[in-house]
Order: sequence, then C-alpha cells, then structure tokens
Amino acid sequence: MTTDSTQFPQKSAAHRKVRKAVLPAAGLGTRFLPATKAQPKEMLTVVDKPQIQYVVEECVASGIEHIIIVTGKGKNSIEDHFDNSPLLERFLEEKGKHEQAEMVRRISNMVQVSYTRQKEPLGLGHAVLVAKDLVGDEPFAVLLGDVLIPGPNPATRQLINVYEATGTGAIAVEEVPRDKTHLYGIFAGEPAPQPPFGERLLRIRDLVEKPKDEDAPSNLAITGRYVLPSAIFDCLERTKPGAGGEIQLTDAMRLLAKEQGLWAYIYEGISYDAGDKLGFLRATVELALQNNELGSDFRAYLKSLKL
Ligand code: G1P
Repeated sequence: MTTDSTQFPQKSAAHRKVRKAVLPAAGLGTRFLPATKAQPKEMLTVVDKPQIQYVVEECVASGIEHIIIVTGKGKNSIEDHFDNSPLLERFLEEKGKHEQAEMVRRISNMVQVSYTRQKEPLGLGHAVLVAKDLVGDEPFAVLLGDVLIPGPNPATRQLINVYEATGTGAIAVEEVPRDKTHLYGIFAGEPAPQPPFGERLLRIRDLVEKPKDEDAPSNLAITGRYVLPSAIFDCLERTKPGAGGEIQLTDAMRLLAKEQGLWAYIYEGISYDAGDKLGFLRATVELALQNNELGSDFRAYLKSLKL
C-alpha cells in the first residue's frame, strides 16, 4: 500500500501493543579491540554493569515484556548474565548480603529473554531478520546494544508513544556534527508537527546509510532506537547488501517509509556510543557522576585532577 505524502494512515487495524524488542548483539566489536578479542562488546562494563543491562533496563522501563537477543559465537556470557545464579545467590544469602542477592535475582527475573543466533556477520538488517519468527506478526522495538540512552524518559518509550498514537513506525534521530554524518544512517524529510509530539515529529522521505559527509541530506542521524511494524521483515527480505557490503536495516526502512510511512522522532535525552572508545569513556565518566553511590566522591576526584 502506498500512502500519499501528507498523511500516514492513523490507527490501522493491525495496530497492536508493542510487547517485544530485538537486541542485535552478534557484532564482532572490532572498534573496541583488543578488549573485545575474547569477550562480547555488550558485556563491557560501564561503571558497575555491562552495557547490555542498561539496554535491557530501558526495554523494561518502556513496557517491553519479551526481549529477543540476537547473538553469535563467543557471546555466551550474555546468556549467563541474564540467567539465574543459584550458587552466587545462596553464597550471598549465607553471608547475610541480602541486598546483593536481591540485586542478582532481579537481573534474571526482570523480563523474559529469548536468544537466537546470527550465524554469519551479514549486517544489522540481517541480524534483525534472524529474529523474524520469534517476533511474529506484531510491532516490535529494536535497540542497538552499544548505544546507551540513560535517563528517566526512555527513548524506546517515546517511540512506542508515537506508534501507539499513529499506528506508524518511528525511529529515534538526533543532530550530529556535519563532519560525523558518514558514521550514521542519515534522515531526509520534513517536519510533520502534531500534538502531543510537536516539532519533534518528522516525516521520513528517505534515509541514507553512512553517506559521505558532503552528500548527507541533513545532520539528523539515526540513533539506534526503532519501533517497527512486522512489515519490515518483508522489506528486509527484499534488501540487497548496501553500505559496507552488508544488509542494512536503514535500506529496508527506506522501503518501509516509501510503502507504509515511517516517522523520525527527535527524542528527548542524551545518547552515548559506547561501542566507540571515546564514547565509552564519556559514558563512563558521566554515568559515574550520576551514580548515587559513587557520584560525589568521583566528582571530588575529577576536580582534584590537575588537567
Ligand atoms: C548503526 C546503523 C546506523 C545508525 C548507527 C547508530 O551503524 O546502521 O544507521 O546511525 O548504528 O549508532 P553502526 O554504528 O552499527 O555502524
């Protein structure tokens, strides 16, 4: 079905609750070698928990009930992290460390998690397609495991709100410096303000994965949070390898935007690209400063440094 360029269909019959999220976590983490030589990048610790736990907590805070993690070789520690740890829990209880035991239990109980494997590194789009059967015929969120967006107003929830109000998928975007556009999927389109979303809501005309800086149609970059209808799977199946020779989610979303409509949403919040060494350091420092237990001591320590 093709929509006219002024209006997306409102509240289609297939409009369903967003219950599931796909977390692609099969990447080799080459930007973070040597740390990722023998451990998954998703398990690198930011302050006191692995990156992927922040992302799972964002899902839970957004109302997601079932998370599908797409893993690959060498990623077993992700499964172990979200599994029960009876030995550790018993040990902590016996030592009277009930709060710690409760914290460990909470990690395995917070949400249902399923795993599936991407057997070859064929790209982000392919990783999402691998989750097709587990998602089924319902809308779902996608969260990239190395993008952290902490804060009280989860970006995924913001996108679900747009989907629930309009029945059309939505992806998070944010402004990036012009000389960094080649690192991202880039938005082309126009404002489509409507209550209660106001100027944050944009209509996607096109998307370009990692354009040369001089060819970027805007400086609005795709952030790594998506809420998509199951029709994206059909688009992915029709998507040929693109940038980097990989099957790109961005290219499948171009098709979706043209055929069914897709919103971009300038989400409220700050993202950290924790898959990049500098982004990881920024996330570590800023989240440590916000940490209840460590924040004030860490701030005093930073102030004491003679930089
Ligand atoms: C992926 C997506 C890109 C998006 C980016 C956000 O790229 O393909 O569209 O802008 O994540 O971090 P990657 O960083 O995995 O190369």
